[in-house]
Formats: sequence, structure tokens, C-alpha cells
Amino acid sequence: MAVIENAKVTVVGAGAVGSATAYALLIRGSAREVVLYDIDAARAEAEALDLAHGAMFTGASEVVGTSDVGRTAGSHVIVVTAGAAQRPGQTRLELVETNARIMASLIPNLLEASPRAILIIVTNPCDVLATLAVEQTGADPARVFASGCVLDTSRLRLALAHRAGVDPRSVHAHIIGEHGDSEFPLWSSARIGPLPVAEWDASFTPAELDAIATEVRTAAYKIIEGKGATNYAIGLSSTRIVEAVLRDERAILPVSTVLSGTLGVDGIALSLPSIVGSDGAVPLDRIQLSDSEQELLARSAATLAETAASVRA
Ligand code: LAC
Repeated sequence: MAVIENAKVTVVGAGAVGSATAYALLIRGSAREVVLYDIDAARAEAEALDLAHGAMFTGASEVVGTSDVGRTAGSHVIVVTAGAAQRPGQTRLELVETNARIMASLIPNLLEASPRAILIIVTNPCDVLATLAVEQTGADPARVFASGCVLDTSRLRLALAHRAGVDPRSVHAHIIGEHGDSEFPLWSSARIGPLPVAEWDASFTPAELDAIATEVRTAAYKIIEGKGATNYAIGLSSTRIVEAVLRDERAILPVSTVLSGTLGVDGIALSLPSIVGSDGAVPLDRIQLSDSEQELLARSAATLAETAASVRA
């Protein structure tokens, strides 16, 4: 496939994350039409109206709020943000039962209305929900996947960039695994410009790198403590993935796809650097992990498999 002109993007869920995603899509001019879909029609319509009133400043995108799934028909990309959100102190995995039920009732209808759409699950626990969605719909795992560790990777690059005194875009490093407590940085391949991180500066000791990994892993907890939810950066992360699809960028982003044996992971979605374009996301299968990274990945996969099994039971 190729670059999609006049794109229609549906954002499912008009809560904090959905409306921040719609806002990011509008101010970046990512799509021709943004549909904000929620079971609460009044909420969806009000958010859409508020967003539409910025038209003089954002350009020609159209924004619609609706509770009618028919209105989402023919979407090129669907971003799913609906569901219960983490409360302070709660893990993402603890949301699984409620949100798996919501996904099971939503996703088949969305894909029926937009059979050719790429569907991106942002609702947590996004890896488990993507695993279950692919199982339940029989969708191609390249076309139904989760936002995964794209946001965590941005957090990592910011933390390294701040310490190194460079632009986050000049940091090349990835968080992989679960979007959650078992995620970890791929330090073995992380670079600042052309230099391995440890060679950039003597201050990047193993203890400092551990502290950075913890800062990234716990970042959402800190934000939820303070403001009840995270929304802006996840809205931007989702929008970045949508753009990679619509423009057929083949950008390498650590989204979460159901793997078929890659690095020993089978039948479970987790994040690996993946090529993202108009046909969806395909994980890189030639990534080199150190022995300890391979072990962390296996542990992350086991945690996710256990959570998925608890819902299937
Ligand atoms: C976060 C939410 C999106 O990490 O899980 O901010």
C-alpha cells in the first residue's frame, strides 16, 4: 500500500487519552477527518465541538463526535483508548478483566464497520488486550497491535537527552517488553548520536542506567499520583504511530504485536522495534539481545501470558 490521502481516523473513547489523541491529530494535521466515538454521545459531541472550534488555528481537518459506530465506517486507522483507567497505585495489569470485556464488545463492531483499518490498542493493559483481540477476531497481527512501548521509549530518550545535554531525537534507544512493570531498556544497542551510551560520559554508570530505567518504568505512576491520569504524551505517541501508518513511513517504532516465535516469544503481544507503515507493524526479527536482555524479555512475556490466561479461564 502507499501514502493514504484524505485519511479518516477514528479515536474510540472520549476520555482524557482519547481527547488528547484527537487534539494531537488535529494540531498536527495528521488526518482529513477525525471521528471521536464514545458510548456517551453527549461527551463525544462536546469534546468534538470544543476541538472543532480551533479550526481557525489548526487547518481543514473535520472533527465529529458520535456514539454511532456506523459513523466510524471506512476509517483508515482506529485508535482504541476506551475503558477503565489506572487509579493511583494500581498496575496496568489489574485493569485486564474490565477492559478485556469492553474490548470484546467493541473491536468486532469497529472492524466490521472498517474492515481495512489498522487498529491500534492504547487501552491498558495494551499488550494483553492486543493478544486477546487478535485471538478473538483472527485479525492479521500486523493490522491489530498495541501502542506498547512507544511512549516509554520517548520517556527513555528524554531522560538520556537531559543528562547528555542533547536533543531527544539524537538519542537512539528503545524500551521493549510489556508496556508496564516488566518493561526494560535495550541498553546493549542504545546510542547517543553514534556513541554507545556508556561511552558518552563517565556519569552513565550501570547504577545510573538502572536509575534511568526505574524512572521510565515508574513515570506513569508518578503522573497518576499527581493528576489522576496520563494523557498528553500518550496522545502524541498514538498520533505518531497513526502518522507512520497513513504516510507509509516504515518508521521503526517499538509497538506491541503478537509474535510468532521471534526471540522465543509465541502467541503473545509485546513491544519490539517494528517497521510501521500502511500495512501495519512488523517486528524486526534480527534484533540482537544480550543474555540478560533475553532473560528479561522471557520474563516479561511470561507475565503477559499469565495475565492473558487469567482472562481466558
Ligand atoms: C502511560 C499510560 C499510557 O504509560 O500507560 O502513560
